[in-house]
Amino acid sequence: MSERPVLLPYTDPAFVADPFPLYAKLREDGPVRHVLIGGGLEAWLVTRYEDALAALSDHRLSSDVRDASDTRLLQQLPETERESMLSNMLRSDPPDHTRLRRLVSKAFTARRVAAMRPRIQDVTDRLLDAVVESGHADLIADFALPLPVTVISELLGVPVDDRHDFQRWTDRMITRGPELPDPAVVNEAWQHMRAYVTELIGAKRQDPGDDLLGALVTARDEEQRLTEDELIAMVFLLLVAGYITTVNLIGGGIAMLLAHPDQLDLLRSDPGLLPGAVEEFLRYDGPVNPGIARFAREDAEIAGVTVPRGATVLIASAIADRDPARFAAPERLDITRQDNAHLAFGHGIHYCLGAPLARLEGQIAIGTALRRLPGLALAVAPDELPWRPGGLRGPEALPVTFTP
Ligand code: HEM
Repeated sequence: MSERPVLLPYTDPAFVADPFPLYAKLREDGPVRHVLIGGGLEAWLVTRYEDALAALSDHRLSSDVRDASDTRLLQQLPETERESMLSNMLRSDPPDHTRLRRLVSKAFTARRVAAMRPRIQDVTDRLLDAVVESGHADLIADFALPLPVTVISELLGVPVDDRHDFQRWTDRMITRGPELPDPAVVNEAWQHMRAYVTELIGAKRQDPGDDLLGALVTARDEEQRLTEDELIAMVFLLLVAGYITTVNLIGGGIAMLLAHPDQLDLLRSDPGLLPGAVEEFLRYDGPVNPGIARFAREDAEIAGVTVPRGATVLIASAIADRDPARFAAPERLDITRQDNAHLAFGHGIHYCLGAPLARLEGQIAIGTALRRLPGLALAVAPDELPWRPGGLRGPEALPVTFTP
């Protein structure tokens, strides 16, 4: 392609606050757009729904960063730690992916997750008790953040009290916006994280319980179904994958309602709309933005455009989820939308393992917050909300007032 790549301007506050006008233009102009995502990194952005769906099950596209020709993606990871950092299902292709996913998939079935409802409700109520007493809140720090961390820690069987350290380290490892994270910072945070996870595994070896981590340690020690690196990477992935994304669903969902008072009123008047509302938050402005990265294993034609071997293909679920060829009035937040097969959880073999859990947490958290916080309103103007600059999108803080 001779066309110059288009810059996704993550340093521009207007773009960070609302990237969707540029996304719409990119989608209209072509199905596969050559873009610069900042830090000098290039990607081929798949912008339309049908193409994104196909790309998510295209075997020519790999999830393994080692297939990327831009070596900076690997170099940002400390050399001695690459193996353990990348030995997780999210970044693996079959057959490793199949083996790793099978080890934990039973813990995340709709039935197993439904059984967690009373406990999730309990944690939600406890967090909101504290919020209600104080009369005002930052619904990210006080509510949307501690809820998913507590739930996933309990599911794994690890102490919840460590979450502050763990949150700080993971925040440093996550790409936020235009620049790649500093390798030295990633390394330091990862060393802490690795030591922490190793300690958790050690404690579980001493005192195995019937929780998920106990089962994984047994799979490692008695059945040799995964390596020690894979065990560490699995615990790390499960702790992290379900954390910032779900925070963004809960916080982002509440922010979307507060910016659309008609939808808020509708939901308050009919809580039966909650499951559909959560799907609509995921479609309209989901946490994964602009989308899901793959790497071309060979020169590959995608929607008529040839992307070179080793290219980063960014399957833009957030752009595809507003494709007018797939969704009626896609720019409208409509919590009663029926036909809503969005791509916010991906598609195909890597389809989000935690989707049932994220949905349940989202429904309980948002529904209970609306019930318990009458007169809920933003304490700042909607355009003053600080948003994470891309990669994983959502408000970083959500200052609100309500009638105590
Ligand atoms: C995979 C989104 C919550 C665990 C994915 C993928 C997406 C996604 C788009 C596919 C990535 C790819 O194809 O490369 C989300 C969103 C969430 C959420 C939007 C919240 C609203 C969770 C939760 C967990 C979780 C609560 C629980 C631990 C995982 C795992 C994978 C994954 C383990 C890898 C699956 C695989 O590679 O087979 N998620 N996720 N996610 N998610 Fe989630």
